Amino acid sequence: MKHLLATSDLSRDEALLILDTAAEMEKTQEREVRKLPTLRGKTVVNLFFEDSTRTRISFEVAAKRLSADVINFSAKGSSVSKGESLKDTALTLEAMGSDGIIIRHSASGAAERLATSGWIRGSVVNAGDGTHEHPTQALLDAYTIRKHLGKRADAALEGLTVAIVGDVLHSRVARSNVALLTTLGADIVLVAPPTLLPIGVDTWPVRTVHTIDEALEAVEVDALMMLRIQLERMTGGRSAYFPSPSEYSRLLGLDAARLARLPDHAVVMHPGPMNRGLEISAEAADSPRSVIVEQVSNGIAVRMAVLYLLLAGEAES
Ligand code: CP
Repeated sequence: MKHLLATSDLSRDEALLILDTAAEMEKTQEREVRKLPTLRGKTVVNLFFEDSTRTRISFEVAAKRLSADVINFSAKGSSVSKGESLKDTALTLEAMGSDGIIIRHSASGAAERLATSGWIRGSVVNAGDGTHEHPTQALLDAYTIRKHLGKRADAALEGLTVAIVGDVLHSRVARSNVALLTTLGADIVLVAPPTLLPIGVDTWPVRTVHTIDEALEAVEVDALMMLRIQLERMTGGRSAYFPSPSEYSRLLGLDAARLARLPDHAVVMHPGPMNRGLEISAEAADSPRSVIVEQVSNGIAVRMAVLYLLLAGEAES
């Protein structure tokens, strides 16, 4: 594997290799000295054209724990604001000797463009491209589900049901999770009104319902994944997608009453950043069955695994 662009590219064996490697990485983080020499001499660039807290910082932590040198690049404050193109930015980073580029961009397909353009020789990791994919988020989500519910599943995630609730239309997290969790054998229920579902969703390997109550009645949910409402991508204005914030919460929000209807073993997830009081109440977000903060911690082990698998082999060859 040279790049990680989409979970839809991953075979079941490749996905399990990343998750198993992440488990090994997590063990190393319990040691007194958490830093490994694996990527010493390698340079990793965090190339972020869109805002990020969790993904950018955890890639930086992951790369540093593997002893790579890290360059953080954000479009704000760079020559991108003077009109520099992705190509010229990539050529500049190549000239400075980057071995791996982690890219977040508002355009779907930007990571693939970077990987296949010939502008750079190193590996590319997609850290979120438009509404297309966010593969490391899905991998850390699968890792978290496996940690909590793996004993209930056969082999990978077979036998588990994951409900993904909210703004599926604009969510690269949902797309990456549908592809990955399906590959790993989980059943997926998408919960969204028709206005927040993509065209062609009927061809996806999922069941679809329109309200969270319908989902809780229809299936035993093992993991409930709440999505952020992506107001910044609702170019037609919020009202084109849902009538009002209170109506959204009424149909799709996770509150204490709905939380109480989940099976005892079920976990509550959210990729962050959360709109507290809109898609998830503070009570639900902070409840003992919420694994939202743990998702962030698991992201470091998963991203260490991805960087190791993409870049360390290259170091040895
Ligand atoms: N989940 C996620 O991608 O969060 P950030 O936007 O903070 O990176």
